[in-house]
Amino acid sequence: MKCILLGLLLIGSVIAKPDISLYEDGVAAAKEFQPEARIIGGEVASQSLATSYLVSLSASSIAYAHVCAGAIIAKEWVLTAAHCLKELENTAGNVIGLPVYAGLKDRSSVENAQVRNIDFAFSHKLFNVSDESSPDIALLHFTPGFNFSVDVSSVLLPYRNESYTNQTVVTYGWGLTKPTETTYVKELQVARSEVLPKDQCLEQLPEDAPLGVDQICAKTSACLGDGGSPLVYETKGGSELVGITSWGYLPCAVNNRPTVYTEISQYIKWIADVQWAYYILN
Ligand SMILES: *[C@@H]1O[C@H](CO)[C@@H](O)[C@H](O)[C@H]1NC(C)=O
Ligand SMILES: *[C@@H]1O[C@H](CO)[C@@H](O)[C@H](O)[C@H]1NC(C)=O
Ligand SMILES: *[C@@H]1O[C@H](CO)[C@@H](O)[C@H](O)[C@H]1NC(C)=O
Ligand SMILES: *[C@@H]1O[C@H](CO)[C@@H](O)[C@H](O)[C@H]1NC(C)=O
Repeated sequence: MKCILLGLLLIGSVIAKPDISLYEDGVAAAKEFQPEARIIGGEVASQSLATSYLVSLSASSIAYAHVCAGAIIAKEWVLTAAHCLKELENTAGNVIGLPVYAGLKDRSSVENAQVRNIDFAFSHKLFNVSDESSPDIALLHFTPGFNFSVDVSSVLLPYRNESYTNQTVVTYGWGLTKPTETTYVKELQVARSEVLPKDQCLEQLPEDAPLGVDQICAKTSACLGDGGSPLVYETKGGSELVGITSWGYLPCAVNNRPTVYTEISQYIKWIADVQWAYYILN
């Protein structure tokens, strides 16, 4: 068994097929697979759901190739996972200039999407791609920013240290819907679950799981391609960004293991500091 940063090992179907060795412990374990609240076994998101903050990050500026998702936190800013940025860098060489697609639900047509090109990207300095417990968070900037509309708007940030333990949260994603699939899903998937208390999460993960202090878990069984996808708490006043999809175990959705998310309420000051530094420098 092996834990991975979701989205890191598999680029959109346009570019690569998954490495079959990823599924090394899959054969025996797959029998225990039970559909539950998850992106694997999730459902197609209805058009009316408020996902206007959701973006898809493409690994190519020539053809749209989904790698990861992200969340709009302001007209000019998107929050995603640092491992997604690393993946974009590895694939495209440089993230500057890569397109970000907003206002999408069904990825088979991107004509109506608002597209912006990254002009500044910053990962947490302590992020280490070989250490799943490190801060898996990154900010992307665009000039000009998105034009907010019914289809494109921002998610709300939590208060510093705000806890969502035991709250029902929702995640949307375009990742694999079956552990054995090789192409990313086109229609947005949705899954609901609760934020697990830390002790329950640790109980449900293998003993040596590298769960970081600023990481939270939900039983949503995210899979490859769901990296950077927002985990939100939906209220009448809007959706609050609880987490960003970081890592899980392969094969996806086996043994009903939780998926691990970067806990955004622990990074509110970091976000403000990066934005401040950007505006000072530019
Ligand atoms: C990154 O993590 C790996 C695995 O935990 C560790 O061996 C390595 O020293 C870390 N690198 C840095 C720069 O901290
Ligand atoms: C988007 O907003 C900019 C101003 O920020 C404006 O110049 C542009 O026309 C707008 N585009 C659309 C499609 O509304
Ligand atoms: C958040 O928690 C940290 C560590 O427990 C504490 O040092 C800090 O003062 C808290 N911040 C706020 C705004 O509550
Ligand atoms: C979460 O629910 C568990 C019961 O499943 C309970 O023991 C715990 O106190 C709750 N935690 C919070 C912060 O509400």
